[in-house]
Amino acid sequence: MNRRQFLGTAAAATAATSTAAAAPASREVDFDSVRADFPRIRSEAYLDCASCHPLSVHSVAVLHRYVDWAANEVGEPWWPSWAGSRGDAKNLFAKLINAKPSEIAFVRSTIEAESNLLNGMDHLLAGGNVVTNDLHYTAALYNYKMRQRDGLDLRVVTNRDWRIDIEDMANAIDQETKLVSITLVSNVNGYLSDVKAISDLAHAHGAYLYVDLIQGVGAVPVDVKAMGIDFAACSTYKWLMGVKGFGFVYIRDDLQQTVAKPTQHSGGVRFNYAPWTTKPDAALDEISFEPISAPSCYEVSYPSYEGAICAQESLKYVHQLGVANIRRHVRALTDRLQAELPALGYPSITPKGNESPIVVFEAQDPTSTMNKVRAAGVHVAMRFGNKMRISPSVFSNDQDIDRLLGALRK
Ligand SMILES: Cc1ncc(COP(=O)(O)O)c(C=O)c1O
Repeated sequence: MNRRQFLGTAAAATAATSTAAAAPASREVDFDSVRADFPRIRSEAYLDCASCHPLSVHSVAVLHRYVDWAANEVGEPWWPSWAGSRGDAKNLFAKLINAKPSEIAFVRSTIEAESNLLNGMDHLLAGGNVVTNDLHYTAALYNYKMRQRDGLDLRVVTNRDWRIDIEDMANAIDQETKLVSITLVSNVNGYLSDVKAISDLAHAHGAYLYVDLIQGVGAVPVDVKAMGIDFAACSTYKWLMGVKGFGFVYIRDDLQQTVAKPTQHSGGVRFNYAPWTTKPDAALDEISFEPISAPSCYEVSYPSYEGAICAQESLKYVHQLGVANIRRHVRALTDRLQAELPALGYPSITPKGNESPIVVFEAQDPTSTMNKVRAAGVHVAMRFGNKMRISPSVFSNDQDIDRLLGALRK
């Protein structure tokens, strides 16, 4: 896609009022032309976006402009024009998940966001239980295990045949459940959670629902209102095509400051005495301050400009392609892998018909499998010993899949 086409459609995407989540897959997108936007695929068939999504040339261009400013013009003006990009990034992300911008704060990572939310909910969790499952991300589970050591009643539902049975979740959730925490899409096998059903269960028991969005948002539709999500978080370096160290947390507006209290503070104070001021105000304390309102009270210091301007560009790109179109494009490739890889001796651990961009297969000999795949110029991930994870994206095509299948046939 050339710059002119891109900017035109991206502007339209920014101006559009409907959410990407709600947008039908009606527009035809030329996914062949998308390939030119991703230099990473010139050297290899890159099928590992669940680890890290490559940057598009558009994001790279804006980062170059930023670096140029930081090298040559930093300080002029004191409040740089880049600052506006932060608001745009927030608006674009809010639109993507059907939230209000006032429900979104910047974070440095998904796991940091979930951890901070838990700290801010200590008052709520005390004496209650938390329900999660073993397809949630391991670093998130570690967070809960640490709290279990301190007395939290933690219930980890185990998967059955690589999917979470809603009855098992129902059996674990009770009137004492305060929080249910799940991942939208599992990094282990790409399993797409039935978020609405779990939300209904949680809410029927007075509990809140947190959803880790990182392995889905940008590649599968997310509508926090329709899905009944109370809290959510993600970084941008996977399906939002951004960089590491930058992401978003969603906190439902009526839960801000009450159910989820801010736990890290940063802001300013005013000194009301000499030598700071020549005219102290008798009505004020010596050191006074105004608490920062939500959602900024969930942010500490400067969020990364690099992260924000890259997210602004990449979110425009995702909106412009349309999440429904992206999913349809990727689904054709994952369906093909699901149909063809088991016959080559690689059984799938991803449920059939699953709507996520991640498919995972067991390899009998992971080392030789990876050697063959690498030799063919294909990049996939091998995780948990023998689990071959394949995660195509907008630039992937049937030739990439042919190359992978050809290597595995050898
Ligand atoms: C499901 C899931 N959650 C969280 C993370 C970690 O995210 P972050 O680096 O933003 O903390 C990952 C990373 O792969 C993941 O797959």
